[in-house]
Amino acid sequence: MDLIDRHGRVATDLRVSLTDRCNLRCQYCMPAEGLDWLPTEATLTDDELNRLIAIGVETLGIRDVRFTGGEPLLRRSLPSIVATTKALPSGPRTAMTSNGLGLKHTARALAEAGLDRVNISLDTTDPATFEKITRRDRLHDVLDGLAAAHEAGLRPVKVNAVLLRGINEHEAPDLLRWCIAHGYELRFIEQMPLDAQHGWSREAMVTADETLALLGEQFRLTGLDGRGSAPAEKFLVDDGPHTVGIIASVTKPFCGDCNRVRLTADGQIMNCLFAREESDLRTPMRAGASDAEIADRWIAAMATKLPGHGIDDPTFLQSDRPMSAIGG
Ligand code: 5AD
Ligand code: SF4
Repeated sequence: MDLIDRHGRVATDLRVSLTDRCNLRCQYCMPAEGLDWLPTEATLTDDELNRLIAIGVETLGIRDVRFTGGEPLLRRSLPSIVATTKALPSGPRTAMTSNGLGLKHTARALAEAGLDRVNISLDTTDPATFEKITRRDRLHDVLDGLAAAHEAGLRPVKVNAVLLRGINEHEAPDLLRWCIAHGYELRFIEQMPLDAQHGWSREAMVTADETLALLGEQFRLTGLDGRGSAPAEKFLVDDGPHTVGIIASVTKPFCGDCNRVRLTADGQIMNCLFAREESDLRTPMRAGASDAEIADRWIAAMATKLPGHGIDDPTFLQSDRPMSAIGG
C-alpha cells in the first residue's frame, strides 16, 4: 500500500516531530515567551511512536524517516527511537533536523544507533547576530555540535540557514565560505509563514533570487540540474566541488513534487506543512485500533492533500500550529 494523494503524489518521506519544545527561540519560528507546550499525556510515548513509524515503513511505503521537533535532541530516548527505526526489516534511511545544541554529547551515540545524517539550523557565525535571531547566547554549542556530527561520520552534514532582512542577509557570503571551509553543505531556505506569532510578511522575506544575487557578488555560481523531489536547487560554487542549495519554498514552490508526510508529537498526521486539517491517529490507537485500521486512517489522511500551499495567494491562511509543533 502506498500513501498516494488525488494529485498522484506518493509520500515516501516521513517527518516525525518528537517534541514541540525547543531550547532556542528563533524569531521566524517562536515568540520570545508565552507559547503553550503540548500536555504530556497528549504526547506519544516511545512505544506509540515506534509503532506508528513501523506501520509507515513496513506497510505504507515510507523509505526515509526524519526526526524533527521542536528540538528532537530534547527527547532523551532519541538514540533508542533511531535504533528501533533503523532495525525495521526494510531498513529506512534516517535523518534529523536539529538546532545542534547538545549534539556534541550525542552525535556518536546517534551515529551508532544508525542515524545516517543531520541538518543543523545555523543562520550566522556571528555571536551577536546569533543571539539576536535565536534570543539565546548559544552559538558555541551549535558550532561544537556541528563539529561533533562531522567527527561522528554523519554525512553529509547540512546547514539550514534562513536570511532575515536587515539582520543576517549581508552575512550570506561569509556563512557560505565558513561552511565550505568546514565541509558542511549549506542551504538557504526562504522564510515561510510558520511563526507562532504570525509575524511573516512577503516584503520582509529575502527571496531566493536576492540570495543568489548576494552570493553572486562574491562567488561564481553554476546551476546544477536534477532537483527531483528534493526542494533545494543546487549550485556549484566557484566551479566546484562545493555546492550551495537554495530552497525557494515561497517563490518557486515544489509542491507538485512533494513526497512528504508529517507526524506530530501528539500523533496527528499532517499531509502538508501548511495543512489546516489534521488526522488524529493517537485517539484510535489508544482506543485499541489494529495496525490495519491505523494504516487505513493514514491512507485516508493523505488522499485529501491539497495541490499546493498557496502562500502567494491573498486568501492564504496560516496553520494554527507553529513550526515548533510541526517540525521542518
Ligand atoms: N521559514 C523557513 N524555515 C524555517 N525554519 C524554521 N522556521 C522557518 C520558517 N518560518 C527552518 C529552521 C530549520 C528547519 C526545521 O526549518 O531553520 O532548519
Ligand atoms: Fe509539500 Fe506542503 Fe511543503 Fe508543498 S507546502 S512541499 S505540499 S509539505
